[in-house]
This record gives sequence, structure tokens and C-alpha cells, in this order.
Amino acid sequence: MTLHVSFSQLRAKLPGILPSLLMCDFGHLADEIARVEAAGAPGLHLDVMDGHFVPNLSYGLPVVETVRRLTRLPLETHLMISEPERWVDRYIDAGADLVTIHVEATTDPAAVLRQIRRRGAAAGLAINPDTPLSAIQPYLADCDTVLVMSVNPGFGGQAFNPVALDKLRALRERPDPKPLCEIDGGIHAQTIAAAAAAGAQLFSVGSAIFHSQDYQATISHLQELAGSRQSATAG
Ligand code: DX5
Ligand code: ZN
Repeated sequence: MTLHVSFSQLRAKLPGILPSLLMCDFGHLADEIARVEAAGAPGLHLDVMDGHFVPNLSYGLPVVETVRRLTRLPLETHLMISEPERWVDRYIDAGADLVTIHVEATTDPAAVLRQIRRRGAAAGLAINPDTPLSAIQPYLADCDTVLVMSVNPGFGGQAFNPVALDKLRALRERPDPKPLCEIDGGIHAQTIAAAAAAGAQLFSVGSAIFHSQDYQATISHLQELAGSRQSATAG
């Protein structure tokens, strides 16, 4: 199956820092997107929460459609919603290039991942800190990315949980097929190198970017820290 062009773009620019808009100033959404785009972000991470799968609400289709109109960057929608099978088509229609669902949120992850790929988008599978890696192992051939959560999903600005590092290392040791590994939650200058060394290639970053003054300096610094650890551990 040919991958969606925008997702291939993302794959060509690793390690990739994906700003998580959850932590941006929604009063100036267009400016915030323009700033991270100018700062060299290779894509955006959009956190969709339903107040049911996670104890918080964020935003849904209208915001994803708006972001799609504001940028040509590849968009990941991180769906923290129950029964994602009911919604994935609409997020693809709204402009998502990579649709990430949670293994805990559906009874048939393989079917939802295939549904996403059939529509021409890339498929991501997310796993919570308390869920064992064995829960996603049967589905690795059906996904393009694995999103390892380093916080309990629902809120930005939480402390990094190192349980994610063990999962990343175990994924790296697995035989093919190897989906791209992304990490999400509590990633900043003090945690990103360890995540990269453990095998993370994509990094969803919220507060470390949007609470900083100079987005470009922050993104470049994080990218440099991630890149140096990846090359230091390559081979
Ligand atoms: C948490 C979200 C994350 C979050 C990241 O549920 O999935 O993407 O916004 O924010 P930071 O980087 O502040 O932990
Ligand atoms: Zn997220």
C-alpha cells in the first residue's frame, strides 16, 4: 500500500519535533501555527479528547478543519476518544494525514487501523503508561506509527513517566515490521535525549514549545538533543 504523501514527508525528516497545539494560545491560533511552521516543525500534533476516554475535553472536527486550512504541514490527530471507529473517517475528511487511535479505546484495533489505511491516511496506535506492550504487539503490522505515552493522556504539562523508555527499547529490539516510534507527554530539554536514545523518532511537544519565548530556538535545541542521541546510539 502506498503511504500518504504527507506522512512520507514526515518520515523523511527524522527526528521530528511535532508541536502539540493543545498548549498553544487558541486566541491566536493562526499566528501560533505560522510561528511553529517558520521555526521548522515538520508536522503538527492535534490532541482530540472526548471527556470519556480521558477526563478532559479539548477540541474536535471544526478545529482540525481550521488547522488544515491554515497550513500544509502534515497533521497527526491523536484521538483520545472511545470507539474511534465511529470517527476516523471524519478526521481524515477534515485533513488528518496520520490518525492515531488508542489500543485501550476500541475492541478491534486491527479493524480501525485498516479502516484508516484504506482511506489513504497513515495509521498510528497509542499505548497508555499502564498498558503492557503485549497489548499492541498483535497490531504492529497494521500501523505506521506507535505512540508511546509518557503521561496519562488528558492534560498537557505533566511530568514524564520513564515507563515509556522500557517500551521504546523493547519495540526497537523487535523484528520487522517496525512502525515509527513516537513519544508524547513531558518531553523537554531534560527528557528528550533519553527518549531518543531509547528509540523515539517523533516527539510530540506541548508546553516546552508553547511556554517558551522563542519557538525556533526551542525546536532547534530539542531537535539537536534528539539527533545527537540517535546518532550516538545508531548501529
Ligand atoms: C496529553 C497529550 C499531549 C500533550 C503534550 O494527553 O496527548 O500531546 O499535549 O503536552 P506536554 O508536552 O506539555 O506534556
Ligand atoms: Zn497527544
